[in-house]
Amino acid sequence: MMKFPKSIKIVEVGPRDGLQNETEIIDLQVKVDLINRLSEAGLKVIEAGAFVSPKWVPQMANTADVYHAIKRYEGISYPALVPNDQGMEAALVLNVREVSIFASASEGFSQKNINCSIGESIKRFETVIKTAEEHKVKVRGYVSCALGCPYDGEVAPKAVAEVANRLYDMGCYEVSLGDTIGVGTPLKVQSMLGEVLKSIPDEALAVHFHDTYGQALANIYAALEMGISVVDSSVGGLGGCPYAKGASGNVATEDVLYMLHGMDIETGVDLDKVIETSCWIFKKLGRTPTSKVTQAWGC
Ligand code: HMG
Ligand code: MG
Repeated sequence: MMKFPKSIKIVEVGPRDGLQNETEIIDLQVKVDLINRLSEAGLKVIEAGAFVSPKWVPQMANTADVYHAIKRYEGISYPALVPNDQGMEAALVLNVREVSIFASASEGFSQKNINCSIGESIKRFETVIKTAEEHKVKVRGYVSCALGCPYDGEVAPKAVAEVANRLYDMGCYEVSLGDTIGVGTPLKVQSMLGEVLKSIPDEALAVHFHDTYGQALANIYAALEMGISVVDSSVGGLGGCPYAKGASGNVATEDVLYMLHGMDIETGVDLDKVIETSCWIFKKLGRTPTSKVTQAWGC
């Protein structure tokens, strides 16, 4: 029998990765209620917003108001995405204690998403990390397009490892490997992870799957087999990336929980509360959750 981790940390990205692609601007109170409900469901990391250019991602323009209004529970981290010094400064003003920086493994996506090359983005992050360290703010890193790019196509595992190493060496305590457009399949996941694990320990890695082709749970299982114990997911399967054409939602948090709990892996998260939250947010959005678990539950 394969040995799996005893417990898994879930990083809930719904309020950021999930909502950023919604074209209708969502009420501040809905965003705040969503985050508070997720806190009450037992999630220990909830990505609450992004201090990015409001011209690039209008949905995230009121991230400062979100941080003002949410209840920040003891023991829960509420990271924000920051692309540069300006974003980092905005996060500091709001006493955000964890930020996420994001670099791409492919040049095409880097240009389209943050308007600069991979090398330039790494340079920008050096000063962001320096400021974060000065203020004792934790920094998480993302590598986008870890299994394929909407502009450049195939992405070599070595290219992923190279960017992941840069982020880790710069001081990211955790590096999340993102299948931004959801094209990965389990053996490709394992070959990419095999390359990254040559220089980064498994406990410092996370996986972040979008479910475009319905592969996300299988990909997570493949990552668990490689010793990964941090999984990003999004309530109800909300999500998409405005600069990754065709990217559908993230894997649904409740689907991941259902699988992990069924494998006797602890998460500390209340599945019923996540399902209720999923039904609630999708009612607000006027759609059905993509999560199979929530659909089966009868939402
Ligand atoms: P730029 O246009 O090259 O930036 O954008 P600039 O420095 O020339 O500034 C232009 C304007 O933006 C200026 O305002 C700046 O003040 C403003 P203006 O003078 O025109 O009024 N600006 C900002 N405003 C607020 N906050 C900031 C900020 N920085 C500049 N931090 C930039 C470069 C990086 C800012 C832009 O490209 C950007 O914001 N991109 C973000 C894109 C994004 O958020 N994408 C989605 C997240 S990534 C993702 O989803 C993948 C992930 O989930 C992992 C996965 O799935 O693989 C993480
Ligand atoms: Mg994503």
